[in-house]
Amino acid sequence: MQGGSGAGYGWRKTRKKMNEGSTMKENQTFLAETLDGLTRQPKTLPCKYFYDERGSALFEDICEQPEYYPTRTELGIMEEHAPEMARALGPDLVLIEYGSGSSRKTRVLLEALENPAAYLPIDISKDALFPSAESIAKEYPKLAVLPICGDYLSPLPLPEATPTENRRAVYFPGSTIGNFMPDEALSFLHRMAEQAGPGGAVLIGVDLKKDAAALERAYDDRAGVTAAFNLNLLARINRELGADFPLEDFRHEARWNEAEGRVEMHLVAKQACEIRVGSERVAFEAGESIHTENSYKYEISEFEALAAQAGLRADRRWLDPDEKFSVQLYEVA
Ligand code: AVJ
Repeated sequence: MQGGSGAGYGWRKTRKKMNEGSTMKENQTFLAETLDGLTRQPKTLPCKYFYDERGSALFEDICEQPEYYPTRTELGIMEEHAPEMARALGPDLVLIEYGSGSSRKTRVLLEALENPAAYLPIDISKDALFPSAESIAKEYPKLAVLPICGDYLSPLPLPEATPTENRRAVYFPGSTIGNFMPDEALSFLHRMAEQAGPGGAVLIGVDLKKDAAALERAYDDRAGVTAAFNLNLLARINRELGADFPLEDFRHEARWNEAEGRVEMHLVAKQACEIRVGSERVAFEAGESIHTENSYKYEISEFEALAAQAGLRADRRWLDPDEKFSVQLYEVA
């Protein structure tokens, strides 16, 4: 991978095509997954669809809420320890990032890295991916930036290794790993190990277990931003799939599930109703919920055990002083 802003990969052309709105196929998948979730018992919706343009903006806003500690805590850990992380990762690194978001933590890492070879952000939301990749490319003119728009759970072809790169590292900040069921998290860790390759590394942000009240507050802020974020999923389904969810008839709920070790987000029907989704009809009882998101919280030892099953050897970890959040470094065994 040579220098320059990734022009060699023709990604500017890709970006133009991707920005022209969702394709028919994406829309069919969204409809199929929505109907699949809403015809289950209990009802569910996939959390990856939160992040349309408005959802991404609301998520940024969540990160500013006083109750939502993960973002600022993780950023604090990065600011405090990025030089050590950079030393552990080594020079001429190809940095693969999943779910690029606003890339603020990435900037801290890129700043500390010695002569990074390339930055490959991968995100399902083109609205989040391309503007942020573009500003990174402008800020780091010597860095090859290659944004890849796609679901990071499905196999994505990455560029071949070049002679100038030293090793590859997958960076997965934000505790997004917490949104996966443990078995999915495991196969995902396998994929990360595979994409980092032999001798590669995985640097991952993992939110930690803490008292239930603090966790529930983090997912139900007083200003109602998380509620708006959750409800926006119904607004998106209305808009993109021709549904007629009355938003005022659903309320947001955050629940700590102790047995499963996760915070759950739900949308609860205030009264019985029947909703049209595409050509289907979905009935709700009063108080019935749609389970929209899981956010698993881990003990350090629990997460290390999971990673070990994926062939990842725990190397180092960094925590904030209150031990709310962790950034963990693994080596591909
Ligand atoms: C996407 C993992 C960063 O689960 O904490 C925030 C998403 N949902 N508030 C999380 C989210 C509700 C968030 N992450």
